[in-house]
Amino acid sequence: MVLKWAEMARPIVCLAPMDGITDSAFRQLVRRFNRDVVLFSEFTSADGFLRSEKVRSRLSFTAEEHPYFVQLFGNNAAAFAEASRALEQEGVAGIDINMGCPARKIVASQHGSGLMRDVNQACRMVEAVASACSLEVSVKTRLGWRDSSVLAPFTRSLVSAGASLITIHGRTYDQGFKGKADWAPIRDLKRELSVPVLGNGDVVSLEDGRSRLGGLDGFMIGRAAIGNPWVFCNDEGERQPSLNERVRVIRTHYQLMAQQKNRWQALREFRKHLAGYLNGISHIKATRTALMTAPDEGCFLHLLDALEERAYPIAQAG
Ligand SMILES: Cc1cc2nc3c(=O)[nH]c(=O)nc-3n(C[C@H](O)[C@H](O)[C@H](O)COP(=O)(O)O)c2cc1C
Repeated sequence: MVLKWAEMARPIVCLAPMDGITDSAFRQLVRRFNRDVVLFSEFTSADGFLRSEKVRSRLSFTAEEHPYFVQLFGNNAAAFAEASRALEQEGVAGIDINMGCPARKIVASQHGSGLMRDVNQACRMVEAVASACSLEVSVKTRLGWRDSSVLAPFTRSLVSAGASLITIHGRTYDQGFKGKADWAPIRDLKRELSVPVLGNGDVVSLEDGRSRLGGLDGFMIGRAAIGNPWVFCNDEGERQPSLNERVRVIRTHYQLMAQQKNRWQALREFRKHLAGYLNGISHIKATRTALMTAPDEGCFLHLLDALEERAYPIAQAG
C-alpha cells in the first residue's frame, strides 16, 4: 500500500518511532484508539534486517496497523535499497530513515544523528531507497548537531535526493533529551521546503500538537503515548480513563504482546509500559512494585485483578 504524504489529510498525526516501545502490539493498541494515526515501527538496522530473521520479525505487522511506516537505520546504501524492496513486497506504507538517534554506539558508527555530519552519505541513503522501490522515503532528524544553523541546507539536500517528508525533533544532538524542544526553527523550515514537514518534541496531547503547528503539516507524539494510548483519543472525555479502564487496556496490551513474544520476554518488556499506565494512581506503591516485579504471568494477572477490585483515586492531569 503506497501512500503519498502530500495527499494525506492535515494535520498528520503520528505515533513517533520508539525503540522498545512501538512494537506491533503497541501499534495495534494505538490503532484501536485512533483509526487515522500514522504508525511507525521501532528503528531497525537495515543490515540486521537482511541478515537476521529475528531482526526482520521486529518489523512484522498486521493489516489493522496501516498506515504503517518502517524506520530503518544504518549507513549502507545497498542494504537500505535491498531492505526497502523487501519491505515494499511485505506491504509497508513507506520507509523512514533515522538521522536523529543520539545514542553513542549509533553515532560512533555514523548512523542516526551521525548522518547529520555527512550530508553526502545521508543523501546517498535517501537516493538508494527512492530508486530501489516505489515507496516514499522520509527522514526523521534533529535541529542540528550543536545548533540549527545548517538545518535548512541539510534538509534541502535530502529533499533534492528524493525525500518526500521531513520530521524534525526540536532538539539538537548535543541536547539529547534535555531542555525543551524548540519548534520555531521547525516552523521556519516549513517555509524553506517543498515537501511536508512534521514537528516533534514534548507534545502532550492532540490539542497541544495542533497548537504548535503554525503551518506545519503535522506532528508526532512519542513519550506522552507510553502507557497512555488515550493521548490519541479525539474525545476529551475518553482521555481521563478510570482505573478499571486502565486495567482493561493493560490486559489487552499485555495479551497482544504475549501473542508475539515468549511470556517471560513479554512480561519483562511490558514493564516499560506499565510504569506509564500506573502513573497518577495514588496509594498503590506496594501494588506498583509487585506488578513491576511479578515473577510470572499468573502472578501478574492476579495482581491486576486485585487492583481492579479496589477503587484507588487517580490524580487529574495538570
Ligand atoms: C524510549 C524511546 C525510544 C526511541 N526510539 C526512537 C527510534 O527508534 N527512532 C527515532 O527516530 N526516534 C526514537 N526516539 C525519539 C522519539 O521518536 C521522539 O523523537 C522523542 O522522544 C521526542 O518526542 P516526544 O517528546 O514526543 O517523546 C525514541 C524515544 C524514546 C523515549
